[in-house]
Amino acid sequence: MKMSNTEGKFNLVVKTFKGLEDVLLSELEELGATDIKKGNRMVEFIGDKTMMYKANFHLRTALRVLKSIAEFEVTNENELYKSIQTVDWSEYFDLRNTFAVDSVVNSKEFSHSKYVALKVKDAIVDQFREKYEKRPYVDTEDPDVRISIHISNTSCTVSLDSSGESLHKRGYRTKTNKAPLNEVLAAGMILMSGWDKKSSFIDPMCGSGTLLIEAAMIANNIPPGIYRQKFGFETWKDFDNELLEQIYEEESEENNSDVKIIGADISEIAIRMAKENISNASLKRKIELHIKPIENFDPIKVKGENGILITNPPYDERIKKNEINNFYKVLGDIFKNRFKGFETWLISNNFDAIKNIGLKPSKKQTLFNGALECKFLNYSIYEGSKKDKYKDLA
Ligand SMILES: C[S@@+](CC[C@H](N)C(=O)[O-])C[C@H]1O[C@@H](n2cnc3c(N)ncnc32)[C@H](O)[C@@H]1O
Repeated sequence: MKMSNTEGKFNLVVKTFKGLEDVLLSELEELGATDIKKGNRMVEFIGDKTMMYKANFHLRTALRVLKSIAEFEVTNENELYKSIQTVDWSEYFDLRNTFAVDSVVNSKEFSHSKYVALKVKDAIVDQFREKYEKRPYVDTEDPDVRISIHISNTSCTVSLDSSGESLHKRGYRTKTNKAPLNEVLAAGMILMSGWDKKSSFIDPMCGSGTLLIEAAMIANNIPPGIYRQKFGFETWKDFDNELLEQIYEEESEENNSDVKIIGADISEIAIRMAKENISNASLKRKIELHIKPIENFDPIKVKGENGILITNPPYDERIKKNEINNFYKVLGDIFKNRFKGFETWLISNNFDAIKNIGLKPSKKQTLFNGALECKFLNYSIYEGSKKDKYKDLA
C-alpha cells in the first residue's frame, strides 16, 4: 500500500470527522480512486496529481488532502532531525517561499507535538542554510507550503498538505449565527441520510442555511471546490494551472435540478444570514426561505410533501433545562403529526433533551461538530400508523 512518487503516483491521506469515514470512502470510490483504505478519521488511497486536485475539488466530506512524501522509523529527536534532512526540500520549495510545520504525535518516544514540529522546522532551515547560506521563512497563518508530520509510535510520515485552509471553509459562508454546523459535517449528514435528491428537502430551523446550501449543491451536482479562492497546492513548485482549469471546466457539469429545498427559522436575523450565504453560493433560485417558528410550519402549505427533513435544533445549555426538554417534546409531536411520510433527522449534542422526542429512532450515529460530540438520529414517520402500513402491504 505504501509508496512514494512511483510513476507519478503517491499515497494520499484524506482527513475527515469521526463518523464520516464510510461516506468519504464512497465519495472516493465515485471519484475513481483506487487502493482505498479506511482509517480513523481518515481514508487513504493511491493517486496522482490529477486525483489529488480532484479530491480537493470534489470531496464534500474531506477536511484536508495530504500527499505523503517520505516515511521513516524514528525513536528520538536526533533521528527525526537526521531523517528529515534526507529529504531534498528544495524539490518542494524555494528560499522565497514561506512554510509551516504541523505535527500530530501518538507515541511513547515523542510526547510533545510542538517540539517535534520545531525539530522538523530546524532540520529544514539548516538544510537550506548549508546549501544557500540563506533560509526560507515560517508563516503559520498562510504559508506557501504546509508540511504535516504524523508520528505513530516510531513510524513517521511526512506529508504536504495540498488543501491549505481546511476544506470545510468552502467560501460561501460569510455570515453565521451562534452555533453553525460545520459544512463538511452538514454534507456528510445529507449523504448519510440517503436522500434521493428528488423528494423535497426541509430544514425548519435552518439558522445560517448550511444544510440547505449543501443539499442544493448535492442535488445540482455543484462541486464544493467551485467557491474556493485557493487550494494549498496552488503555491507548490509543481503547480499545474492548466490541469486545475481543466478540472474546473470538465468536472463542473451542473444538473439544474428543480427539487424543492425549503428552509425556515424563527429568527429574522438568521434568515437574513441564510439569504446572504445562499446568494454567495449563487443558489437563490434553488432555495425557498420562510421566517416562521416550527410550531407553525406545515410542509403541505409549502408544497414539500413526502420528503426529508434534516435539522439542527438549538441545544444551547443557556436555555433552561425544562424549557429545552419541552421544546424537544414539541418537536417530536410536530414530526409525528405534520411530517407524515417524511424521513426526519436531527443532530444535537443535548442527549437529555433528545430523550424527550418521544419517537423511536430507526437509525442512530455519533458525529462530531468540531469538538462537540453529537447524536444524529433518524425517525421515519409513516403516513398512517405503522400497523396500517403493514396492513396495506398484506
Ligand atoms: C443550532 S441553530 C442552527 C444552525 C444551522 N444549522 C447553521 O448551520 O447555521 C438552531 C436554529 O434554530 C432556530 N430556532 C430556535 N427555535 C426555533 C423555533 N421554535 N422555530 C424555528 N426555528 C427555531 C434558531 O433561531 C437557530 O437559528
